[in-house]
Amino acid sequence: MGSRENLKFSFLNPTKIVFGHQSSSRLGEELKALGVKRALLVTDRNLHHHTKIPETVARAAGDLLGGIFSEVIPDSGIEIVNRGAACAREFKCDGLISLGGGSSIDTAKGISALLTLNQTDISSLLGFQTVGRPMIPHISIPTTAGTGSEVTFVAVFKNENLGRKILITDDHLHPQTAILDPGLTLALPPAITAATGMDAACHAIEAIHSRRANPITDGLALQALSLISANLLTCVNDGQNLGARGNQLLASTLAGIAFSNAFVGVVHALAHTIGARFGIPHGVANAICLAPSMRYNLKAATPRYALITAAIGIPTGGRPETELAQKVIEWVEKLLSQLPIPRKLRDVQIPPEALPRLAEEALTDSSIYTNPIKITDPAELEKILREAW
Ligand SMILES: [Fe+2]
Repeated sequence: MGSRENLKFSFLNPTKIVFGHQSSSRLGEELKALGVKRALLVTDRNLHHHTKIPETVARAAGDLLGGIFSEVIPDSGIEIVNRGAACAREFKCDGLISLGGGSSIDTAKGISALLTLNQTDISSLLGFQTVGRPMIPHISIPTTAGTGSEVTFVAVFKNENLGRKILITDDHLHPQTAILDPGLTLALPPAITAATGMDAACHAIEAIHSRRANPITDGLALQALSLISANLLTCVNDGQNLGARGNQLLASTLAGIAFSNAFVGVVHALAHTIGARFGIPHGVANAICLAPSMRYNLKAATPRYALITAAIGIPTGGRPETELAQKVIEWVEKLLSQLPIPRKLRDVQIPPEALPRLAEEALTDSSIYTNPIKITDPAELEKILREAW
């Protein structure tokens, strides 16, 4: 994290944010503003088959809708992105609308990259800064509140052959516009609300403990945590509460902008690996690994965790940072205990003998590079996993 005298950073958030109840009805004018003539709506099978949301959004796009691609599944893979790009070409689309959770938004990012570079296989673009030029317009409309993908420069895909999650990052990958319509999140069941909400909490906490944290990302992440502490439980217990849903959606976006600039750490390195190997939802894997990872990071991140106390309503009262940091970890554990999601790796049927291999693999996940403690020995990760088990 370095001393403030040596502080150097750049900050990027090119996404226009349109927030408000029924703001998705503005989709047509936002497409027009970006010069889109024929947009492909990218959404997931579940939304398409079980809700009217894609229909409503398609209506809002009006005659600027060129086609619908509704094959996205959780942890979308390379094949689906490639098929989506072929579909966009078939419909002669010049813009994208993503509707759904992180998978739909990331799939649209991948399709946009392929169309921009006139390529057909997303495998060739994996890695850092692989697009390198402004991409075709993409408007994201999240229906979950957690991934923050609507405002980030990263897309995560599953490589089915390797059983690994793989990333594309590029400064041009951000959607041009994010429409945050809280009404679209009202139907989310409590367990998914909780898991995605914990993903947002992890983004905020990891942005704070990241080696690349800066005062702007701190401000965004602390505001995200303040909103999460005041609204997540309400969203879970009273799903129809539009005000709480709106605040949670804002928290997710704020945390998304924060981690898109500060990056994350060991929690995400572990969650990516657990998710890819065992199909555990990203938010659940993050939630389980969060407190053990924070305890591991304490010797480097105590002042950073202490910073969080005021944002989540813990009185500081001149207490030492070590005590405040502990209180923040206790807050995380208490929050998790009140949510309808698993709390331990053993609760999601991960066998203890799988932990060494998970540790080995997580060590190669790029999220680990910005963890406050540099980790080079898989045995360190295994310690965290054993505590999470
Ligand atoms: Fe995440």
